[in-house]
Amino acid sequence: MESVDFHTARALLEWQIELGADECISDTPVDRYKLPESIAKPKKPDAKPHLTKGPVKAQERDPEAEAEIAAKAATTLDELRAAMGAFDLCDLKRGARNLVFSDGIAGAPVMIVGEAPSKEEDRAGKPFVGAAGQLLDKMFAAIEMGRSNERAPVYITSALPWRPPHNREPKPEELAMMRPFLLRHIELADPKVVVIMGNSACQSLLAKRGITRLRGQWAKVGGRPALPMCHPAYLMRNPAAKREAWADLLDLRQAVVK
Ligand code: URA
Repeated sequence: MESVDFHTARALLEWQIELGADECISDTPVDRYKLPESIAKPKKPDAKPHLTKGPVKAQERDPEAEAEIAAKAATTLDELRAAMGAFDLCDLKRGARNLVFSDGIAGAPVMIVGEAPSKEEDRAGKPFVGAAGQLLDKMFAAIEMGRSNERAPVYITSALPWRPPHNREPKPEELAMMRPFLLRHIELADPKVVVIMGNSACQSLLAKRGITRLRGQWAKVGGRPALPMCHPAYLMRNPAAKREAWADLLDLRQAVVK
């Protein structure tokens, strides 16, 4: 590659970051122009589409229907994780380092559903490990619950298992195609109560947005009581909303011990 001056190099880098390529995945660069054709060329889309027979083009496939079939076929959480890992119709998968499935204790009475992994979660392969996750842990510790509290455990997942580039908001079509997996996840984890954290989780599970209006109002997800709450990332930006979050947590604790 020709050498470029500082300002051009910087502009090129900024452009890549803008596109979502904001992480280095190896210490040394790979010059793909120098690789043999068979390695350098990206593979053509597989002639055999996932879960469908015959030469069906990607744009003719129905992601939600395929997700539904794959999710329903899973009979355990491990099978569900594997089915999500094999699902190739969500473009986010291609830009993510890890599938972020869950953390905490499966079978816990409380299952928390967040939005989507960000950089830290994508690296760790676990939900809620960044700053918002630390606040989430503090919030639940305040009602004597936690992901590693064996006496009062919680189980945690997110509406999307892959990090959106640049931590942008999940798109409605991404939430819709991953929804069958999320619903099956709830069924298999079998919590007494679901906590719906933030707008994306509300959109996925209740087909509604407007978390500041919806929070604290019990709803149903798959026949189970579900409590919308403000996402900890929102609470970090809007500390005044912590007071209402505390009221929601107390309400949640009552529902769980009932
Ligand atoms: N926020 C979420 O909603 N989910 C995560 O996994 C991390 C941060």
